[in-house]
Amino acid sequence: MRILVLNGSPKKKSDTFRLTEAFLRGMNKKHTQEVRVVNVIEKNVAPCRGCFRCWEREDGHCVIEDDQNEILDLYRRAELAIWSFPLYCYAMPSHLKAVLDRTIPLIRMKMVREADGRVRHEPLADFSRLRTLVVCGCGFPDWAGNFQGLRAMCKACFRSPDMVCVPETPLMNVPAAATVAEPLLARFERAGEEYAGTLTLSPETVAALETPMIPAEEYIRHVNGL
Ligand SMILES: Cc1cc2nc3c(=O)[nH]c(=O)nc-3n(C[C@H](O)[C@H](O)[C@H](O)COP(=O)(O)O)c2cc1C
Repeated sequence: MRILVLNGSPKKKSDTFRLTEAFLRGMNKKHTQEVRVVNVIEKNVAPCRGCFRCWEREDGHCVIEDDQNEILDLYRRAELAIWSFPLYCYAMPSHLKAVLDRTIPLIRMKMVREADGRVRHEPLADFSRLRTLVVCGCGFPDWAGNFQGLRAMCKACFRSPDMVCVPETPLMNVPAAATVAEPLLARFERAGEEYAGTLTLSPETVAALETPMIPAEEYIRHVNGL
């Protein structure tokens, strides 16, 4: 499977990307996948200008001559797009959001009402085979109230993607937390294996990946140095 990973963490040692890497290890277990990782922070992707020139040209590219056109070409070829990023202000980091905004050259102006009742723009190419997985890590211990906005946005933009939202991810890079981080990495690896077989994640698997590593109050005490 051709997998495009859009790594939206700006950090060299991303908490979230550790989880995504474990997932990819699992996906690669039975069959080697064709994985292309784009570290978005290293790319030059300007914000969308809103000129809609792409909708006049309908050639699947943006008039801004930066790295986004290469990303669009990879995106069009992908069978699975994995958006891996930390939660920033209850949303995706701005440099990754610029990549998402600038996928509009892949749709046209024409609007259609789809089976889920939502009005969308018609895709320029056939994306019916493209699957999407969102892996988002965050610093708060609570799930409720933290991911709702992001989930609504991803559901609308990616047409109900598989989504894993993980609280307490800074623990992934705390050596003393290895006893709880390693089991989560093992669960991500198993989830990758499952995904390679079924091309989706069961609700039980998602729940196991999203369960906080340690109780919220304990996490807060650690963060506050108490
Ligand atoms: C600018 C900024 C905004 C953040 N906003 C949130 C937030 O809204 N909710 C949250 O739980 N964590 C928030 N965090 C914490 C990160 O999501 C968290 O540290 C995550 O583990 C970083 O993942 P990474 O190492 O993959 O980049 C924020 C961090 C930064 C730097």
